[in-house]
Amino acid sequence: MKGIVLAGGTGSRLFPLTKITNKHLLPIYDKPMIYYPIQTLVDAGIRDIMVVTGGKNSGDFLRLLANGRQFGLKHIAYTYQEGEGGIAEALGLCEHFADGQKVCVILGDNIVEKSIRPAVEAFRRQERGARILLKEVPDAERFGVAEFEGDRIIGIEEKPENPKSRYAVTGIYMYDPTVFAKIATLKPSRRNELEITDVNNAYIHEGALAFSMLQGWWTDAGTFDSLLRAANLVAHSKVSGARAHAEALTI
Ligand code: G1P
Repeated sequence: MKGIVLAGGTGSRLFPLTKITNKHLLPIYDKPMIYYPIQTLVDAGIRDIMVVTGGKNSGDFLRLLANGRQFGLKHIAYTYQEGEGGIAEALGLCEHFADGQKVCVILGDNIVEKSIRPAVEAFRRQERGARILLKEVPDAERFGVAEFEGDRIIGIEEKPENPKSRYAVTGIYMYDPTVFAKIATLKPSRRNELEITDVNNAYIHEGALAFSMLQGWWTDAGTFDSLLRAANLVAHSKVSGARAHAEALTI
């Protein structure tokens, strides 16, 4: 399975922090934001990774990440998204990279506490279709939201005023190679983007969308509040991890 990190866009919700740099290069506690999604893929056993960048600072990704030695990688592939065409458009740029394999896609501002390996393993065993990761949240209206009938997802709404559940669709998606044909049929949404939610709904219509529940905390980092929350969650995890380690050594 190949890995894709989507790190384009203008980061307009974080202006002026993003006036002179890309959102995904901003710090989250002790590392640049983009480190976290790359590490998430690597920890799940995915080593063939493409980063989609965009905007004015794409060269900085190469300077920062190079061939990914800091993640134990030999090589990172890069591509460039022009303009603000949306998450699905960015993914569409990776068709040649996917080369007929399954892909695990993660948004460059999504940070998780625990490994996603169990979901990735489940998708490796899944013959076809897609798999998304859900998380119960108190503010579902900020995200794509799953609607259930029994234990089946029957639809996903993007940022609904009245969410039909408390389950947010996190920015971690796994797709079979038919995803690129689905993207090619999409029409731009009201915000003039190709929406990843429309891709997921296309899989639902085929009865081919599976899901896993994400373990541990999850956050995005695309607004001032979530950027701060992300830094605090990472810092807290590090401190409690270090404390547990020290306690284990003294027992
Ligand atoms: C995007 C997706 C949304 C998803 C979210 C996760 O929203 O459109 O469905 O729940 O990422 O971070 P964005 O925050 O990019 O508008």
